[in-house]
Amino acid sequence: MSTTFQLDTSTSRANPTPQPMRRLTVPKILGRKVDGVTAEPIVMLTAYTARQAQLLDAHCDILLVGDSLGQVIYGLPSTVPVTLEMMANHAAAVVRGSYRSVVVVDMPFGSYEASPEKAFESAAALLKASGAAAVKLEGGDAMADTIQFLVNRGIPVMGHVGLTPQAVNVLGGYGARGRSDAEAAKIVRDARSLAGAGAFSIVVEGVMKPIAEQVTQAVACPTIGIGASAQCDGQVLVTEDMLGMFERVPRFVKRYEEIAGLISSAAQRYADDVRNRRFPGAEQTYQAD
Ligand code: KIV
Repeated sequence: MSTTFQLDTSTSRANPTPQPMRRLTVPKILGRKVDGVTAEPIVMLTAYTARQAQLLDAHCDILLVGDSLGQVIYGLPSTVPVTLEMMANHAAAVVRGSYRSVVVVDMPFGSYEASPEKAFESAAALLKASGAAAVKLEGGDAMADTIQFLVNRGIPVMGHVGLTPQAVNVLGGYGARGRSDAEAAKIVRDARSLAGAGAFSIVVEGVMKPIAEQVTQAVACPTIGIGASAQCDGQVLVTEDMLGMFERVPRFVKRYEEIAGLISSAAQRYADDVRNRRFPGAEQTYQAD
Protein backbone atom coordinates (compact mmCIF):
# COMPACT_ATOMS: atom_id res chain seq x y z
CA MET A 1 0.00 0.00 0.00
CA SER A 2 1.27 3.45 -0.88
CA THR A 3 2.19 5.69 2.05
CA THR A 4 1.29 8.93 0.34
CA PHE A 5 -1.64 9.58 2.65
CA GLN A 6 -1.97 11.33 5.95
CA LEU A 7 -4.98 11.64 8.16
CA ASP A 8 -6.65 15.03 8.07
CA THR A 9 -7.74 15.20 11.71
CA SER A 10 -10.41 17.82 11.02
CA THR A 11 -12.31 15.48 8.74
CA SER A 12 -11.00 12.03 9.75
CA ARG A 13 -10.50 11.37 6.06
CA ALA A 14 -7.27 10.53 4.26
CA ASN A 15 -5.76 13.30 2.17
CA PRO A 16 -2.92 12.94 -0.28
CA THR A 17 0.36 14.34 1.01
CA PRO A 18 1.78 16.74 -1.57
CA GLN A 19 4.81 15.12 -3.14
CA PRO A 20 7.88 16.90 -4.47
CA MET A 21 7.13 15.73 -7.97
CA ARG A 22 5.31 17.02 -10.98
CA ARG A 23 2.22 15.51 -12.55
CA LEU A 24 2.84 13.47 -15.70
CA THR A 25 1.95 15.36 -18.86
CA VAL A 26 0.28 14.59 -22.15
CA PRO A 27 3.57 15.02 -24.11
CA LYS A 28 5.24 12.52 -21.73
CA ILE A 29 2.50 9.97 -22.47
CA LEU A 30 2.88 10.56 -26.21
CA GLY A 31 6.67 10.30 -25.85
CA ARG A 32 6.44 6.81 -24.34
CA LYS A 33 6.12 5.41 -27.87
CA VAL A 34 9.35 5.91 -29.78
CA ASP A 35 9.70 4.66 -33.36
CA GLY A 36 6.69 2.40 -32.87
CA VAL A 37 7.96 0.87 -29.61
CA THR A 38 6.60 1.50 -26.12
CA ALA A 39 9.20 0.17 -23.72
CA GLU A 40 7.08 0.97 -20.64
CA PRO A 41 3.40 0.12 -21.22
CA ILE A 42 0.92 2.82 -20.23
CA VAL A 43 -1.22 2.02 -17.20
CA MET A 44 -4.70 3.54 -17.17
CA LEU A 45 -7.68 2.89 -14.86
CA THR A 46 -11.00 4.63 -14.55
CA ALA A 47 -11.62 6.83 -11.49
CA TYR A 48 -14.79 8.68 -10.56
CA THR A 49 -14.22 9.91 -7.00
CA ALA A 50 -11.51 11.69 -5.02
CA ARG A 51 -10.84 8.75 -2.70
CA GLN A 52 -10.64 6.30 -5.58
CA ALA A 53 -8.17 8.64 -7.29
CA GLN A 54 -6.06 8.84 -4.11
CA LEU A 55 -5.78 5.05 -3.99
CA LEU A 56 -5.10 4.52 -7.71
CA ASP A 57 -2.90 7.51 -8.47
CA ALA A 58 0.48 6.14 -7.39
CA HIS A 59 0.02 3.07 -9.60
CA CYS A 60 -1.26 4.67 -12.81
CA ASP A 61 -0.02 6.90 -15.61
CA ILE A 62 -3.50 8.03 -16.58
CA LEU A 63 -6.73 8.22 -14.58
CA LEU A 64 -9.69 8.18 -16.94
CA VAL A 65 -12.90 9.77 -15.74
CA GLY A 66 -14.90 7.54 -18.05
CA ASP A 67 -18.52 8.09 -18.96
CA SER A 68 -18.91 4.47 -17.83
CA LEU A 69 -19.73 6.25 -14.57
CA GLY A 70 -23.25 6.45 -15.99
CA GLN A 71 -23.66 2.72 -15.44
CA VAL A 72 -21.18 2.17 -12.62
CA ILE A 73 -22.11 5.12 -10.36
CA TYR A 74 -25.56 6.23 -11.51
CA GLY A 75 -27.12 2.90 -12.50
CA LEU A 76 -28.07 4.19 -15.94
CA PRO A 77 -28.75 1.68 -18.74
CA SER A 78 -25.97 3.04 -20.98
CA THR A 79 -23.58 6.00 -21.29
CA VAL A 80 -26.02 7.88 -23.53
CA PRO A 81 -27.82 9.84 -20.75
CA VAL A 82 -24.56 11.02 -19.10
CA THR A 83 -24.29 14.82 -18.92
CA LEU A 84 -21.47 17.35 -19.12
CA GLU A 85 -22.22 18.38 -15.53
CA MET A 86 -21.79 14.82 -14.22
CA MET A 87 -18.47 14.50 -16.05
CA ALA A 88 -17.20 17.87 -14.82
CA ASN A 89 -18.07 17.14 -11.18
CA HIS A 90 -16.47 13.70 -11.11
CA ALA A 91 -13.41 14.89 -13.04
CA ALA A 92 -12.88 17.72 -10.53
CA ALA A 93 -13.02 15.20 -7.68
CA VAL A 94 -10.46 12.96 -9.42
CA VAL A 95 -8.12 15.90 -10.03
CA ARG A 96 -8.39 16.85 -6.34
CA GLY A 97 -7.56 13.28 -5.34
CA SER A 98 -4.48 12.86 -7.53
CA TYR A 99 -1.12 14.51 -8.00
CA ARG A 100 0.78 12.21 -10.32
CA SER A 101 -1.40 10.79 -13.09
CA VAL A 102 -2.64 12.61 -16.15
CA VAL A 103 -6.39 13.01 -15.69
CA VAL A 104 -8.41 12.50 -18.87
CA VAL A 105 -12.15 13.14 -18.93
CA ASP A 106 -14.67 11.60 -21.32
CA MET A 107 -16.80 13.94 -23.39
CA PRO A 108 -20.37 12.68 -22.94
CA PHE A 109 -22.68 11.75 -25.82
CA GLY A 110 -24.22 14.82 -27.45
CA SER A 111 -21.58 17.25 -26.22
CA TYR A 112 -19.23 17.13 -29.23
CA GLU A 113 -20.60 15.42 -32.33
CA ALA A 114 -22.54 18.33 -33.88
CA SER A 115 -19.53 20.47 -34.82
CA PRO A 116 -15.93 21.23 -33.90
CA GLU A 117 -17.10 24.51 -32.34
CA LYS A 118 -19.62 22.73 -30.14
CA ALA A 119 -16.91 20.24 -29.16
CA PHE A 120 -14.53 23.07 -28.25
CA GLU A 121 -17.15 24.74 -26.08
CA SER A 122 -17.89 21.48 -24.23
CA ALA A 123 -14.25 20.42 -23.87
CA ALA A 124 -13.16 23.85 -22.64
CA ALA A 125 -15.97 23.83 -20.06
CA LEU A 126 -14.88 20.38 -18.85
CA LEU A 127 -11.23 21.36 -18.49
CA LYS A 128 -12.04 24.69 -16.81
CA ALA A 129 -14.43 23.10 -14.31
CA SER A 130 -12.24 20.14 -13.43
CA GLY A 131 -8.58 20.91 -14.02
CA ALA A 132 -8.25 17.72 -16.09
CA ALA A 133 -5.48 17.72 -18.70
CA ALA A 134 -7.26 16.21 -21.68
CA VAL A 135 -10.54 14.93 -23.06
CA LYS A 136 -11.46 11.63 -24.69
CA LEU A 137 -14.07 11.31 -27.40
CA GLU A 138 -15.43 8.36 -29.34
CA GLY A 139 -15.55 7.84 -33.07
CA GLY A 140 -13.44 7.34 -36.15
CA ASP A 141 -12.75 9.32 -39.27
CA ALA A 142 -15.89 11.45 -38.74
CA MET A 143 -14.27 12.94 -35.63
CA ALA A 144 -10.87 13.74 -37.19
CA ASP A 145 -11.69 17.37 -38.04
CA THR A 146 -13.01 17.91 -34.53
CA ILE A 147 -9.86 16.46 -32.97
CA GLN A 148 -7.66 18.70 -35.12
CA PHE A 149 -9.79 21.72 -34.18
CA LEU A 150 -9.44 20.97 -30.45
CA VAL A 151 -5.72 20.17 -30.53
CA ASN A 152 -4.96 23.33 -32.53
CA ARG A 153 -6.75 25.31 -29.82
CA GLY A 154 -4.93 23.82 -26.84
CA ILE A 155 -7.06 20.83 -25.90
CA PRO A 156 -5.30 17.44 -25.94
CA VAL A 157 -7.52 14.63 -27.20
CA MET A 158 -7.51 10.88 -26.63
CA GLY A 159 -9.38 9.02 -29.39
CA HIS A 160 -11.51 5.88 -28.98
CA VAL A 161 -12.14 3.35 -31.78
CA GLY A 162 -13.49 -0.17 -32.20
CA LEU A 163 -16.39 -0.74 -29.83
CA THR A 164 -17.65 2.76 -29.04
CA PRO A 165 -20.31 2.39 -26.31
CA GLN A 166 -21.96 5.77 -26.97
CA ALA A 167 -23.00 4.34 -30.36
CA VAL A 168 -24.78 1.37 -28.75
CA ASN A 169 -28.06 2.28 -30.45
CA VAL A 170 -26.39 2.10 -33.86
CA LEU A 171 -24.25 -0.94 -33.08
CA GLY A 172 -27.09 -2.86 -31.41
CA GLY A 173 -25.00 -4.06 -28.46
CA TYR A 174 -21.58 -4.26 -26.86
CA GLY A 175 -20.14 -7.20 -28.83
CA ALA A 176 -16.55 -7.12 -30.13
CA ARG A 177 -16.06 -5.24 -33.39
CA GLY A 178 -14.10 -6.00 -36.54
CA ARG A 179 -15.41 -9.47 -37.29
CA SER A 180 -15.66 -8.77 -41.02
CA ASP A 181 -12.66 -7.75 -43.14
CA ALA A 182 -14.37 -4.51 -44.13
CA GLU A 183 -15.09 -3.54 -40.53
CA ALA A 184 -11.56 -4.47 -39.45
CA ALA A 185 -10.07 -2.32 -42.22
CA LYS A 186 -12.31 0.60 -41.22
CA ILE A 187 -11.13 0.44 -37.59
CA VAL A 188 -7.50 0.64 -38.73
CA ARG A 189 -8.35 3.54 -41.08
CA ASP A 190 -10.22 5.30 -38.27
CA ALA A 191 -7.24 5.03 -35.92
CA ARG A 192 -4.87 6.37 -38.61
CA SER A 193 -7.19 9.28 -39.17
CA LEU A 194 -7.37 10.17 -35.45
CA ALA A 195 -3.60 9.94 -35.06
CA GLY A 196 -3.14 12.12 -38.16
CA ALA A 197 -5.51 14.68 -36.64
CA GLY A 198 -3.31 14.95 -33.54
CA ALA A 199 -4.79 12.55 -30.95
CA PHE A 200 -2.10 11.91 -28.30
CA SER A 201 -3.31 8.36 -27.71
CA ILE A 202 -6.14 6.11 -28.81
CA VAL A 203 -8.29 3.71 -26.80
CA VAL A 204 -8.91 0.55 -28.82
CA GLU A 205 -11.91 -1.26 -27.37
CA GLY A 206 -13.38 -4.69 -28.04
CA VAL A 207 -11.57 -5.80 -31.20
CA MET A 208 -9.97 -9.02 -32.44
CA LYS A 209 -6.25 -9.32 -31.65
CA PRO A 210 -4.99 -8.84 -35.25
CA ILE A 211 -6.84 -5.51 -35.45
CA ALA A 212 -5.23 -4.27 -32.24
CA GLU A 213 -1.87 -5.30 -33.66
CA GLN A 214 -2.47 -3.51 -36.96
CA VAL A 215 -3.76 -0.36 -35.29
CA THR A 216 -0.81 -0.25 -32.89
CA GLN A 217 1.63 -0.61 -35.76
CA ALA A 218 -0.22 1.89 -37.93
CA VAL A 219 -0.18 4.87 -35.57
CA ALA A 220 2.68 6.83 -34.03
CA CYS A 221 0.78 7.63 -30.82
CA PRO A 222 0.24 5.02 -28.09
CA THR A 223 -2.79 2.73 -28.23
CA ILE A 224 -4.50 1.79 -24.98
CA GLY A 225 -6.42 -1.45 -25.14
CA ILE A 226 -9.54 -2.73 -23.40
CA GLY A 227 -10.58 -6.10 -24.73
CA ALA A 228 -7.99 -5.57 -27.45
CA SER A 229 -5.13 -7.96 -26.53
CA ALA A 230 -1.67 -7.35 -25.09
CA GLN A 231 -0.45 -5.92 -28.39
CA CYS A 232 -1.49 -2.37 -27.43
CA ASP A 233 0.93 0.19 -25.97
CA GLY A 234 -1.04 0.28 -22.72
CA GLN A 235 -4.12 -1.12 -21.04
CA VAL A 236 -7.22 0.26 -19.33
CA LEU A 237 -9.94 -1.39 -17.26
CA VAL A 238 -12.96 -0.04 -15.46
CA THR A 239 -11.70 -0.10 -11.87
CA GLU A 240 -14.90 -1.60 -10.46
CA ASP A 241 -14.64 -4.48 -12.96
CA MET A 242 -11.03 -5.08 -11.97
CA LEU A 243 -11.99 -5.03 -8.28
CA GLY A 244 -14.84 -7.51 -8.70
CA MET A 245 -17.71 -5.15 -7.86
CA PHE A 246 -20.10 -6.78 -10.34
CA GLU A 247 -21.32 -10.32 -10.82
CA ARG A 248 -20.95 -10.15 -14.60
CA VAL A 249 -17.37 -10.60 -15.77
CA PRO A 250 -16.81 -9.69 -19.42
CA ARG A 251 -14.24 -11.91 -21.15
CA PHE A 252 -11.62 -9.16 -21.31
CA VAL A 253 -11.73 -8.37 -17.57
CA LYS A 254 -9.28 -9.84 -15.10
CA ARG A 255 -10.52 -9.55 -11.52
CA TYR A 256 -7.80 -8.67 -9.04
CA GLU A 257 -10.14 -8.69 -6.03
CA GLU A 258 -13.63 -9.83 -5.05
CA ILE A 259 -14.67 -6.57 -3.44
CA ALA A 260 -18.45 -7.07 -3.77
CA GLY A 261 -18.29 -10.05 -1.42
CA LEU A 262 -16.20 -8.10 1.11
CA ILE A 263 -18.65 -5.17 1.12
CA SER A 264 -21.68 -7.41 1.42
CA SER A 265 -20.13 -9.39 4.28
CA ALA A 266 -19.10 -6.19 6.13
CA ALA A 267 -22.64 -4.80 5.76
CA GLN A 268 -24.10 -8.06 7.04
CA ARG A 269 -21.82 -8.08 10.11
CA TYR A 270 -22.66 -4.42 10.81
CA ALA A 271 -26.38 -5.14 10.52
CA ASP A 272 -26.05 -8.13 12.87
CA ASP A 273 -24.18 -5.99 15.42
CA VAL A 274 -26.79 -3.22 15.28
CA ARG A 275 -29.69 -5.66 15.57
CA ASN A 276 -28.03 -7.42 18.50
CA ARG A 277 -26.95 -4.14 20.18
CA ARG A 278 -23.24 -5.01 19.87
CA PHE A 279 -22.55 -1.75 17.99
CA PRO A 280 -21.68 0.84 19.11
CA GLY A 281 -19.54 -0.61 21.89
CA ALA A 282 -17.71 1.25 24.63
CA GLU A 283 -14.83 2.09 22.26
CA GLN A 284 -17.12 3.94 19.87
CA THR A 285 -19.02 5.79 22.61
CA TYR A 286 -18.24 9.29 23.94
CA GLN A 287 -17.89 9.05 27.71
CA ALA A 288 -18.80 11.90 30.06
CA ASP A 289 -15.28 12.27 31.59
O1 KIV B 1 -15.98 5.17 -20.14
C1 KIV B 1 -15.00 4.41 -19.94
O2 KIV B 1 -14.76 3.94 -18.83
C2 KIV B 1 -14.15 4.11 -21.07
C3 KIV B 1 -13.13 3.03 -20.91
C4 KIV B 1 -13.78 1.73 -20.75
C5 KIV B 1 -12.12 3.05 -21.98
O3 KIV B 1 -14.29 4.69 -22.10
